[in-house]
Amino acid sequence: MLIAQITDFHVGRIIKTDNGPIDLFDRLKQTVEHLTNLNPQPDLVVVSGDISNHGNIEDYERAKRLLDSIGLPYFVMPGNHDSRESLRMLFQADGYLPSSGEFLQYTIEQYPLRLIMLDTLEVGQHHGMICDKRLDWLNNKLTESPERPTLIFMHHPPAKLNLPYQDNMRCFNGKKLAEIVADHNQIHGVACGHTHRDSVANWAKTVLFVTPSATFSYGLEMKPVDDITPRFEPACIRLFHWGSDTGLVSHLSFVGSYPNGLTEGVPTPAAN
Ligand SMILES: [Fe+2]
Ligand SMILES: [Fe+2]
Repeated sequence: MLIAQITDFHVGRIIKTDNGPIDLFDRLKQTVEHLTNLNPQPDLVVVSGDISNHGNIEDYERAKRLLDSIGLPYFVMPGNHDSRESLRMLFQADGYLPSSGEFLQYTIEQYPLRLIMLDTLEVGQHHGMICDKRLDWLNNKLTESPERPTLIFMHHPPAKLNLPYQDNMRCFNGKKLAEIVADHNQIHGVACGHTHRDSVANWAKTVLFVTPSATFSYGLEMKPVDDITPRFEPACIRLFHWGSDTGLVSHLSFVGSYPNGLTEGVPTPAAN
């Protein structure tokens, strides 16, 4: 089973650079093309939030047309830039979002690896929240299937990552979430986005993966800063492979073309 995670499109944002403006929708098109050229193709795609930058319905619509063109099952969840109402309006007809209730949390049951999608949106804030209501829902879902290997997706990382600027915008109440996650040993990983950088952490007796954006990155700032500037490191897709012989393995796949070296065969060991 192969899952592709793409995250943080921010469609509608145009970023000025010394070489002219870059429309993030154009970057997203390149990432989607990269995804459609992956071989083997993923079984499904997880879109882990910040689809639109400003919440404009036109931006959701063009992002949806692009996602539909991939031709694979895909599943969306809210980020801090998203509105639940817009996500419902655009994606409810696809049949997986909860039709009622306050939050857009749901499980995906039809694959060997069970996926739990958490809603960490705190309306009007860049930081996230996993409140007691959402935690109770998660605890119930985990308790009902303790034997099924599970991967959790959530937009905001629930832990500090030694990135002070982004740490201030993490998912609040993460310590309570950690207690629940640590209590259920069927969880093989927790995957997030939001920071626009790649990070991996040992957290709550599992692995926390943070996936870079499909369109732009933020600089690696490990000291406190007042602001953080966008930059264009290679855009990324994270792949999760679930196999009976490997368990959960993750890779980043970088969008763009890079020079290939010529094959030199198997290197000869140094004689000493
Ligand atoms: Fe984002
Ligand atoms: Fe975000």
